[in-house]
Amino acid sequence: METNLKGKVALVTGASRGLGFAISLALGRAGADVALTDILVEEQEYDKDELEKYSVLAAHFAEDGAVKTLSGAEQVRSMGSKSCAFKMDVTDRDEVEKVMKSVEAELGSVDILVNNAAVMDNLERFDKQKLELWRRDLGVNLTGAFNCCQAVWPGMVRKRWGRIINISSVAALMGASLQPSYGATKAGLIGFTKSLAVEGGRCGINVNAVCPGFIATESVQLYDEMMTERIKKGTALKRLGRPEEIASVVAFLASEASSYITGAAIPVTGGMDLLNL
Ligand SMILES: NC(=O)c1ccc[n+]([C@@H]2O[C@H](COP(=O)([O-])OP(=O)(O)OC[C@H]3O[C@@H](n4cnc5c(N)ncnc54)[C@H](O)[C@@H]3O)[C@@H](O)[C@H]2O)c1
Repeated sequence: METNLKGKVALVTGASRGLGFAISLALGRAGADVALTDILVEEQEYDKDELEKYSVLAAHFAEDGAVKTLSGAEQVRSMGSKSCAFKMDVTDRDEVEKVMKSVEAELGSVDILVNNAAVMDNLERFDKQKLELWRRDLGVNLTGAFNCCQAVWPGMVRKRWGRIINISSVAALMGASLQPSYGATKAGLIGFTKSLAVEGGRCGINVNAVCPGFIATESVQLYDEMMTERIKKGTALKRLGRPEEIASVVAFLASEASSYITGAAIPVTGGMDLLNL
């Protein structure tokens, strides 16, 4: 099976940490040239209040050492692939267009797009949910993927080859307590994936979604221990996943080895979504 991505250009959104970072390294390791993009980039000046208004998690991780967008590109280069990093807010269409042009100039046009950027810090009882956060979540998690897909689609159609991998969630399959907007956006991504797969099929573009269970990224490690233990108990494999266990599935879906898979939503959950009586 051919999982070699040599000669392909990949772009990953939300690559400053967690799954996006691990996915970028996995694609680089498989030989792809990789553009890491994120709303957070090292050496960037932030307005802490503005960032806090945008996302509690973003403000938490904006500190030195937690953001690894530029250093991730450096790591990919050390593997022998080309790599670059850009600040890119997926909700900002102008910035998305601008970054796509810069990536094309540095690496070539994007063959593999991984829509991974998301906000997942809106946890609240439904009666207390705020409309502005519902809109933010739709904007980043769903419209962000729409913006990035539209930016790379014409290039993929021209080449008659493309891979789009949308990072959904187990929350799309099972729902998520206190996270109605998150669950809705992640389920929406599956519908979006299937619809684009139908259209992309005619021009060599495969579009799939990956639905991770609980994966021990920096963000999930902020959960309290009791909650983590409950999650482990409800998971068939009795542990959280590792970021590399999602990244390897994404690398497979980006490769020729998955050439007959499109429109799929693949659970990578350790069996968290199974009936566990
Ligand atoms: N970790 C898990 O257990 C888990 C489970 C299911 C699904 N997921 C999904 O996997 C993906 C990554 O999860 P993670 O745990 O690494 O999350 P994370 O919060 O650590 O990472 C999300 C990344 O997206 C970036 N981001 C946020 N808003 C952005 C914007 N507007 N534009 C560009 N980048 C933006 C953040 O800066 C961050 O780097 C997300 O789509 C998440 O919903 C994660």
